[in-house]
Order: sequence, then C-alpha cells, then structure tokens
Amino acid sequence: MLTETQMADYKAKGYLVLPDFLTGETCAALRTAATNQVNDFEPGDHVSVFSTQADKQDRDQYFLASAQRIHFFFEEEAFDADGNLVVPKNQAINKIGHALHRLDPTFHKLSEDARLQAITADLGYREPVQLQSMYIFKQPGIGGEVTCHQDSTFLYTEPQSVMGFWFALEDATQENGCLWALPGEHLKPIKSRYVRKAEGGTGFITYDASPWPQEGLVPLEVREGTLVLLHGSLPHLSYANRSPKSRHAYALHMIDGVCDYPESNWLQRA
Ligand code: FE2
Repeated sequence: MLTETQMADYKAKGYLVLPDFLTGETCAALRTAATNQVNDFEPGDHVSVFSTQADKQDRDQYFLASAQRIHFFFEEEAFDADGNLVVPKNQAINKIGHALHRLDPTFHKLSEDARLQAITADLGYREPVQLQSMYIFKQPGIGGEVTCHQDSTFLYTEPQSVMGFWFALEDATQENGCLWALPGEHLKPIKSRYVRKAEGGTGFITYDASPWPQEGLVPLEVREGTLVLLHGSLPHLSYANRSPKSRHAYALHMIDGVCDYPESNWLQRA
C-alpha cells in the first residue's frame, strides 16, 4: 500500500498525508452517519453534565463510559453562563466518541477497509487493534482550539505503538482549523500521560513540563478525502475555528496488540 518513500517519510516526520484516500461519496456517507447520530441524541436534562461548570465526577464518568459507547461532547462555547445551550444541538457538539468504529455500521465499514490493514502491515504492526474513534466537528465560529499534545498521552503502550488514522471529511484549511504538526518531534519521549487514578477519576502524570517549541510547526492543509497518518508521539494541535465553515474529521486510533497495554490507560478494552 505504501511506497518505500512514504514509509521513510512517516518514520522521519511522524506523519504521512495520503490525498484522495476516500471518495466524495464515502465522505458524504460518513458525514450523514454522524449527523444521524447527533439527531438521535437527546441531551435532555443531562445537558448540565456537559457544560464546563458540571461536576468533574459526572463528566469523568460520562467520558470513561464512552470507551464502549457512542457519547457526545459539547463545544465549550456552546453554553451560556447558566449552562444553557446558545446554539442548536447540531452546531454545539465538539465530538462524538469513542466506539463509533464498532457500533455505527457506516464507521464500522471503514474500519474493515483492507487498505488500513495493508498500511499497518507496511509499518510493521503484527496485531493491529483499533481501539477508539472520534468524529470531530470543529463547528463554524465556536470550534474550540485543541492545544499541542501527543496522542500517546491519552492512549499508551510499551513500546509505543499508537497510530491515528485522521480522515478529512471536509477540506481542512488554516481558516477552519486544520491540523498543525511538529515534524520529527515524535522521536522524543512523551511529555505526559492521562491516566485512571487509583483513588478514582482521571488525571495527568507529567514527565516534562517544558513548553512545546513554537518554531517548526507546519500546517496540514488537506482536501476532503485525505487520510493523514499520525504517529502517537507526534506533537500536533489545531486552532479555534472562527470561520463560517465547519471542518469535519474522523480519527481512528490503533495500537499493536503485541505491546503491553497498561491498566492505567483511561480506555480499557471490554
Ligand atoms: Fe490528537
């Protein structure tokens, strides 16, 4: 599936851009599937659970349960000071996570695309396991910033084997909050881990509190249908979307099942 040059590129930079991986038809089907999920979702009395003022324990619980379910997470700017939604539901969701790839037939079909298995085989994965999926809306006007991070902070194996398949389901530009990455920085250790704490709840363990370099960040402006492979240790971010255009993307994360998977990972396999 991948050429020698592409494999070398991924290993050197920590990411690889594969344009035209999905057809326009497939992108539209995935966007429709996400829209249907949101339409079926009734936040009801539980909206308060999602606002930033909500009880941390409630938020933690809803988040942890999303490992095996389809749960909905709101944009921070979707609420007023009293915790009421200020935009319609379908413009208020930040992301859907984290078991779309198993529970939603349209996303499940993409998981079974033989080209994904071919890519993992090219990159040396022995037992590829798809662990989590996220549909990211990056809503027009209020799509929040995602600060610089490594995905292995949130999903960790020893040795490191996390890789993200990031599918652009709409054009991603600097205007609507495309990805930015620090090429080559994936060769350094991860700076922190997000873990389940022994006393309950979740939190971060920080190994290196130094700030990320600002120099060297490159924008990954890609067209609809592009697949971006992201190494788990690659620092990346996206800025807030203040434009009138959404920036839908679907991220599917996998690991190599032969690696050690710590019990402290927030996401535990059923
Ligand atoms: Fe990420």
